[in-house]
Amino acid sequence: MKCYLLFIAATLATCQGLPVLDTYLRWIQSSTLKDIESHQSDAEKIINHALYGPAQNQSYNRLAEFTDTFGSRIAGSQNLENAIDYMVTKLKEDGLDNVHTEAAQVPHWVRGNESAVMISPRYHPMAMLGLGSSIGTPPEGVTADVLVVTSFDDLKAKASKAKGKIIVYNQQYVSYGKTVQYRALGAREAAKVGGVASLIRSVTPFSIYSPHTGWQDYDDNVTKIPTACITIEDAEMMQRMQERGVKIRVTLKMEAKNLPPVMSRNTVAEIKGSKYPEQVVLVSGHLDSWDVGQGAMDDGGGAFISWQALSIIRQLGLQPKRTIRMVLWTAEEEGGFGSQQYYKEHKKNIDNFDLVMESDDGTFMPLGFQFAGNSAARTIMQKVLEPIQKVQSIPLLSGAEGEDIDEWISAGVPGGSIATDQNKYFKFHHTNADTMTVQDPTEMNICTALWTVVAYTVADMEDMLPR
Ligand SMILES: *[C@@H]1O[C@H](CO)[C@@H](O)[C@H](O)[C@H]1NC(C)=O
Ligand SMILES: *[C@@H]1O[C@H](CO)[C@@H](O)[C@H](O)[C@H]1NC(C)=O
Ligand SMILES: *[C@@H]1O[C@H](CO)[C@@H](O)[C@H](O)[C@H]1NC(C)=O
Ligand SMILES: [Zn+2]
Repeated sequence: MKCYLLFIAATLATCQGLPVLDTYLRWIQSSTLKDIESHQSDAEKIINHALYGPAQNQSYNRLAEFTDTFGSRIAGSQNLENAIDYMVTKLKEDGLDNVHTEAAQVPHWVRGNESAVMISPRYHPMAMLGLGSSIGTPPEGVTADVLVVTSFDDLKAKASKAKGKIIVYNQQYVSYGKTVQYRALGAREAAKVGGVASLIRSVTPFSIYSPHTGWQDYDDNVTKIPTACITIEDAEMMQRMQERGVKIRVTLKMEAKNLPPVMSRNTVAEIKGSKYPEQVVLVSGHLDSWDVGQGAMDDGGGAFISWQALSIIRQLGLQPKRTIRMVLWTAEEEGGFGSQQYYKEHKKNIDNFDLVMESDDGTFMPLGFQFAGNSAARTIMQKVLEPIQKVQSIPLLSGAEGEDIDEWISAGVPGGSIATDQNKYFKFHHTNADTMTVQDPTEMNICTALWTVVAYTVADMEDMLPR
């Protein structure tokens, strides 16, 4: 409707000069802003319900029951499939629409028993975690002298000493985005210079002797060597020993295996739109986790505030014009296998995807709402966020983040995510300490309120977001 008017306005504008178009665009914008204002009282209902009403602590309590029941949920495991079945049952009990799963093929890596023991200059079993997709060692392990490096450049400089060694990376933590390359590429770079295994300082700003796992990538043209993360403490100690000229010898044993891929599922539920049911506002998190800890923070929190958004809209009897769809992705941790399959199957409807959101950076106190979209859409989102500012200052930031929504955003669909304290998040990320103990019910309530207000308001506006 408005596109047609815009066409007339543009035609007029070419005849009569730009001011007509300008006036028209301002009229569109002011009518859209009025539309958002008319949602203020629904937004306040949502906020009250989530923070002080019957839904207080509900996302936290539901997540606690879920993680206490299933624990960790790595792709390829029966445990993840059981967790998906549980969600389907709960989503149906919650009265949501169109609850179903969609199949996706996922990698199946299993850890097995593993150990890294320093045997010289002294006996010292080290805390470690093998990395996803790593091969195992022979049963007797790999025993070799250690070469410590502080960067890929340092590795190149010491390449002549690397042959036959276990390469230990003691890189500084700059940020997750920058430093994660050591975890992802450490094994292949070590193998290129003749290393027989790699032990990588965990990618974290802080440690209480805690190893962090994660995915790593071999190069098919380079020898595959076993690879694991060790603690900051041991990486630093081995560097000090090397600087003193002390010879370090380590035995690494890993039973890790890459089994044939298996089928898993994305989990879907909806609040069906009343006027434009084919148009979609998508909220999401991933249901899979690493095989350590409980995956409470990564990404149980994101998954459960997404469920909670639909749940609250249902509890309040709100009827958005567009469909609000929740997707709980599978196999995010291995590189977004569930979301890639979903994109392949649904991209033909990309024009109907109004906004895609993922929470996968923690559900701690929101420090901002990250939004990827053009400046007209930003003006709208600024207004959408207004009601929540009364309970918590949540600035509109740029650049939405989420492995599972990246493809949609790259293709031009507006995207949203929550910014939280990343220094806290990466202390616990991919460790045995990713449990309910790091989650806080009040912080989850505020994340839920934010998620629900954004999803509902955007889904109930007359027009889709400009893109
Ligand atoms: C929600 O959690 C907070 C913080 O733990 C607690 O003070 C409050 O009583 C809880 N509310 C309900 C309804 O259980
Ligand atoms: C790990 O080793 C223990 C004994 O130390 C054994 O009972 C267990 O079956 C092993 N696990 C695997 C996956 O092989
Ligand atoms: C591996 O080598 C082949 C043949 O030399 C080349 O075509 C391919 O791009 C290489 N793959 C990678 C990941 O470098
Ligand atoms: Zn995650």
